[in-house]
Amino acid sequence: MLERVICLVTGYLLGSIIQAGYWYGRFKHIDIRKYGSGNAGTTNVMRTLGKKAGMTTYLFDALKPIMCMAIIHFVFGNKNGNELLLMMYGGLGVVLGHNFPFYLNFKGGKGIAATSGIVLGLLFYPTHCWAFAVLGALTFGLVTYFSKYVSLGSLMGIGMWFVEFVIWGCVGWLPLSGSVLYECYGVVFIITLLGFIQHRGNIKRLINGTERKVGQKRTEEV
Ligand code: G3P
Repeated sequence: MLERVICLVTGYLLGSIIQAGYWYGRFKHIDIRKYGSGNAGTTNVMRTLGKKAGMTTYLFDALKPIMCMAIIHFVFGNKNGNELLLMMYGGLGVVLGHNFPFYLNFKGGKGIAATSGIVLGLLFYPTHCWAFAVLGALTFGLVTYFSKYVSLGSLMGIGMWFVEFVIWGCVGWLPLSGSVLYECYGVVFIITLLGFIQHRGNIKRLINGTERKVGQKRTEEV
């Protein structure tokens, strides 16, 4: 239990402190949360400050779960056979910290870049996990390309990851079994659910047809 809490808290601190979009905005003398969609993530930074700013934000936001997973690997290893579960707790902590940073009135991003970083971190881990990244990225890329909605691509991408994770667990491709595997499904489900909850405004706009499309530049303050 203590190990899980340590992973969650480590992730939360990394996710909060490395708030790339917010800090990039500060560097440019703006509070990114007051522009465009009000989100402190890659899409809104790109929309407001340009491609280089967006890509820098993505890199740092995706790097933080990878850093957290590497720390968990070196500190705890797999001595209890539950390393993957601990990494998912770390990932959940990062997403919580990214979405609800303690020093910014708990208003941060939507957790998609951070979630994609968890998926990328798994590339260094069990066999078969590379497919999470490939299928997730393909889903995100194709849905975004054809719909022109980043939010729809993001939601489909993380939804696909959760479905894959459950299938991989069922066919025995994850190095976990029994109650630990079910606990891991629960953690991954919460990460996915957080993504959907953070996109509730986007979902409403998608339904009523007012969601911003790729390339639609909105830089005015909200
Ligand atoms: O990852 C965030 C993206 O899905 C939506 O961002 O700024 O359009 O709400 P935004």
